[in-house]
Amino acid sequence: MGDSFDPGRLKRQDLNGMEPYDAYYAPGVIRLDANENPHDFPAEVREYMVSRMEPQFFGRYPDSMARELVRDLASFFAVGTENIMVGNGSDELILNIMLAFGVGRKVHIASPTFSMYGIHARVAGAAPVNVQRDQDFEVDVEAMIRSAGEEPSVIIICNPNNPTGTVTSPEDIAALAGSVNSLVVVDEAYIEFGGQSCIPLLDKYPNLMVLRTFSKAFGLAGMRVGYLLASPEVVRELMRIKQPFNVNSFSQMAARAVLKFRSLFQDSIGRIIIDRKNLEQNLRQIPGVKVYPTVANFLFFSTGAPAGEVYRGLLEEGVMIRFIGVPGRGDYLRVSVGTERENNIFIDKLKSVLAAPKF
Ligand SMILES: Cc1ncc(COP(=O)(O)O)c(C=O)c1O
Repeated sequence: MGDSFDPGRLKRQDLNGMEPYDAYYAPGVIRLDANENPHDFPAEVREYMVSRMEPQFFGRYPDSMARELVRDLASFFAVGTENIMVGNGSDELILNIMLAFGVGRKVHIASPTFSMYGIHARVAGAAPVNVQRDQDFEVDVEAMIRSAGEEPSVIIICNPNNPTGTVTSPEDIAALAGSVNSLVVVDEAYIEFGGQSCIPLLDKYPNLMVLRTFSKAFGLAGMRVGYLLASPEVVRELMRIKQPFNVNSFSQMAARAVLKFRSLFQDSIGRIIIDRKNLEQNLRQIPGVKVYPTVANFLFFSTGAPAGEVYRGLLEEGVMIRFIGVPGRGDYLRVSVGTERENNIFIDKLKSVLAAPKF
């Protein structure tokens, strides 16, 4: 019996072709591939966190409902605690949204966008539908409404959009939310760098949800804390399927510390916005390079040379960015805004890769 067990017989055929999410592990290279905050985490906040590390963080389970963090977020956004849920990164929340609302239904995704929406949808047994953004990668609201139709489903818009940096106006989101029977999720992972939040629309549109993270502007990617704001009914459904102790004790405290010292992050956010402009100008000066408008902490671009080769060439030179294949629309690259030094190295290395092509 045991010897002849074939796991292939239990395999989910609907996940054929899906690879493990294995983010490239490359110690020592300059990482401009994950849209993190590249600046030093404020020492004052780090010291505060260390001083708040309590013995029970080790031997006791964390608060399953992250009550203190939820309370702080609720007071920060002036909403009720019943409007908020926190997760082990917003990635976990995206999966929870699919598990709570997407199973056996369609998930309409304004594409190209963050790949995890489609992956989590498939994992949950939902059917992702990629609704193409227009020529300039802006959301085609009419196409989204047509795609959703009358059937209840999940709609996801990333604003600003990863990987293109494109912004969507709250007016467009309101027009969409007001026209569909679906849950409209707006992922604002990069909103601190630009664009207008849809949080003020939540009162008017009970089918709207806003997703946020501590991983990007607030430098806590390693701690894994995301959160969402939605109607109490939507939050209650999500709570029913969440993992019991999804956010660990240290991370709950760390996120509270970041909220408390929020103003200390303004410098690095401001720095990233200035450096984005410089990086954009430097990229534009390279012959053949086309850069798309962005309001996020990354730039989406093409070089005229095969993107995969440019990606590999840069990696050989010690700089990691992202290769982005867009089915039917070609291959692109995405670079995160790093420190000034990292950005300059990236520009130099890109120039030399393009000047001495191996392709
Ligand atoms: C648009 C978007 N949403 C969510 C996430 C996941 O963030 P978290 O670290 O909170 O899981 C990312 C990370 O790259 C992202 O780009």
